[in-house]
Amino acid sequence: MSISTSIDQGILTIEFDRADKKNAITAAMYQAMADALRAAEGDSAVRVILLRGKDEIFTAGNDLEDFMQRPPTGGDGAEQPPVFQFLYQISHASKPVVAAVSGAAVGVGTTLLLHCDFVYASETAKLSLPFAQLGLCPEAASSLLLPRLVGYQRAAEKLMLGEPFGAQEAHQFGLVTRVLPVAELHAFALQQARKLAALPASSLRETKRLMKGNDMAAVEQKMAEEGAVFRRMLVAPEAKEAFTAFFEKRKPDFTKFS
Ligand code: COA
Repeated sequence: MSISTSIDQGILTIEFDRADKKNAITAAMYQAMADALRAAEGDSAVRVILLRGKDEIFTAGNDLEDFMQRPPTGGDGAEQPPVFQFLYQISHASKPVVAAVSGAAVGVGTTLLLHCDFVYASETAKLSLPFAQLGLCPEAASSLLLPRLVGYQRAAEKLMLGEPFGAQEAHQFGLVTRVLPVAELHAFALQQARKLAALPASSLRETKRLMKGNDMAAVEQKMAEEGAVFRRMLVAPEAKEAFTAFFEKRKPDFTKFS
């Protein structure tokens, strides 16, 4: 499955556990996370959600083999593909979500942070949004939330060039709550999650709803808009060239596409 989940002292920990593939996320992994988040909504034993990877890697983002072989292009009917179920659940989580990020956080590894309440990053964290490099477009409402958070011009550079940026920069522009040494990251994130778990769940729920509730319709609308474009671009020649180039360990050549 490559996602580990556990519930302990009110904290649901969801951990990327596929280090040999840099924690790249397959459809089965999205499904496991979506199911865990959905179950957490109705489970009074869960008061906080902690999302983490390894010291060396948070996640290399969507599994590119999956993108090539099984692109999540369906979903106009009742059953959404797992990635969209996951994005829905994390953006609608009524309980606090704490993220602990170390190493690379590529694509969805960074966009999902826009939906977390506390984002702790190690000094080695490297965030990136290489959607254009892959012939794709932003997802997870990042085309709405990132410009709003960091300003249009900074968001444009991150979303168009897709170059990695460090934890300190992400902290300066507000995406990261606090930067910590790698050795301290996971213990600190757990400690903060425990503090949340000890507080009245109703107060946390209402605090989160009051801060985020007004934005929910706009987030849903942007996700739907991005999702439609993303599905189309996933099967276009530019994306095929990018995915093939990754596995052939060469630079993609986009010059033949206008
Ligand atoms: N999908 C599928 N497999 C992936 C992957 C991904 N997103 N990211 C890494 N892997 C695999 C590699 O193919 C390689 O597999 P192999 O050992 O069978 O050859 C293994 O994981 C190790 O990856 P490698 O690239 O050698 O590690 P690295 O430390 O040099 O670089 C990254 C790490 C994350 C910077 C790099 O793997 C990367 O850029 N990955 C793609 C990120 C991406 O574009 N994600 C999609 C975002 S929408």
